[in-house]
Amino acid sequence: MKEIIKPVKTLKGTLKIPGDKSISHRSVMFAGLADTPVSISNFLPSQDCLSTAGCMRSLGVSVEQIGSTELVVKGNGLYGLKEPLDVLDAGNSGTTIRLLTGLLAGQPFFSMFTGDQSIRRRPMGRVITPLTQMGAIIRGRENSRYAPLAIVPVEGIHGINYVMPMASAQVKSAILLAGLFAKGDTLVTEPYLSRDHTERMLSTFGVTLECNHLTIKLTPPTKFTAPPGIRVPGDISSAAFWMVAATIIPGSKVLLENVGVNPTRTGIIDVLLAMGANITVTNQRMEGEEPVADLLVEEAELTGVTLDAEIIPRLIDEIPILAVAALFAKGKTVIRGAEELRVKESDRLKTITLELAKLGAQITETPDGLMIDGPQDLKRGICQAHDDHRIAMSLAIAGMAGDGVEINGAECVAISYPHFFSEINALQ
Ligand code: S3P
Repeated sequence: MKEIIKPVKTLKGTLKIPGDKSISHRSVMFAGLADTPVSISNFLPSQDCLSTAGCMRSLGVSVEQIGSTELVVKGNGLYGLKEPLDVLDAGNSGTTIRLLTGLLAGQPFFSMFTGDQSIRRRPMGRVITPLTQMGAIIRGRENSRYAPLAIVPVEGIHGINYVMPMASAQVKSAILLAGLFAKGDTLVTEPYLSRDHTERMLSTFGVTLECNHLTIKLTPPTKFTAPPGIRVPGDISSAAFWMVAATIIPGSKVLLENVGVNPTRTGIIDVLLAMGANITVTNQRMEGEEPVADLLVEEAELTGVTLDAEIIPRLIDEIPILAVAALFAKGKTVIRGAEELRVKESDRLKTITLELAKLGAQITETPDGLMIDGPQDLKRGICQAHDDHRIAMSLAIAGMAGDGVEINGAECVAISYPHFFSEINALQ
């Protein structure tokens, strides 16, 4: 699908931000391990989360969609997953394949995973290595580095004390999910703190976790008790596109309602504020274990900023849209320690540099980041989304704030934000 984006004069209005992708995945996975029904509201019905729902169904869990964003999940208890009749399909979703590989590592049945072309290129060794140390038997293509994966039944797995070589919530969560079925405690330590939605949601299911900054200790539960309902907060990674758009498009004033503001995800707010953005965080509240707020964003002049490795996990998915913000900021923006972007849905350091260049932007790609001197004038251009939803949406905002853009392959926004393009009209 080709999407033509016109330059926008100003953005005004209110948007309700759709459900958080990471939390939506976890809500179906965890609810599927309970033995009482769980209602999930504000679920994100995007392609990625529907991939997780499909896999859970194949594992014998009933997942019923009621209306567009409500689900009722009925599992068969912690030890009630069933051997799937066919290969599980993760589609484009790294969270689906990595977390569920952890969940399935200690099951007494055989399962296989595949996914789309992008998923079959993404590194799986990072979950297979620790899960193998726990006693799991998992094989994949190219010496167990890539999907398709086969997970062989084992007599049982055991806890480990694993120090992760990279900060990754997907890897951390895969290990913790395997730990639910392991003999003994599981400890996992990351170099920097990544999103902690797994830890927060596991505790709502009554699992004992000890979190000591970068180390988490999980004791295998004897009971897995579901809360009656889970409400998914809005996705700050989706809100980020409008935060940047309202900041760089003159005269804009946008209220973003229902945004998850878990501190492991709010790097984008901190960095935009440090650049000079005008963002007011209001109406702060808790939904279950997750903090939520409304964000009022008004146009502001930005200055460049330097980002180092420690903050990257707190805004890992927001680097492409931050690159757009940096093009409108005065001075130099330097992003370092972001080599993980090279193994996302696309090599995001490469694709954002390449595609924004088609709009006239000059960005220097480094092995682990980007360097951008601003402000720069953007011209109209024809771009490719590279099957990467966040690249497509970042290009759309660049086109709105610049001189327009034609985006080929724009349908990939359905991975995380199916109504993204129609929201542009809602704000004019
Ligand atoms: C996610 C974690 C992040 C993020 C991805 C979703 C999750 O990946 O990029 O979009 O739901 O756990 P890593 O933590 O592996 O970097």
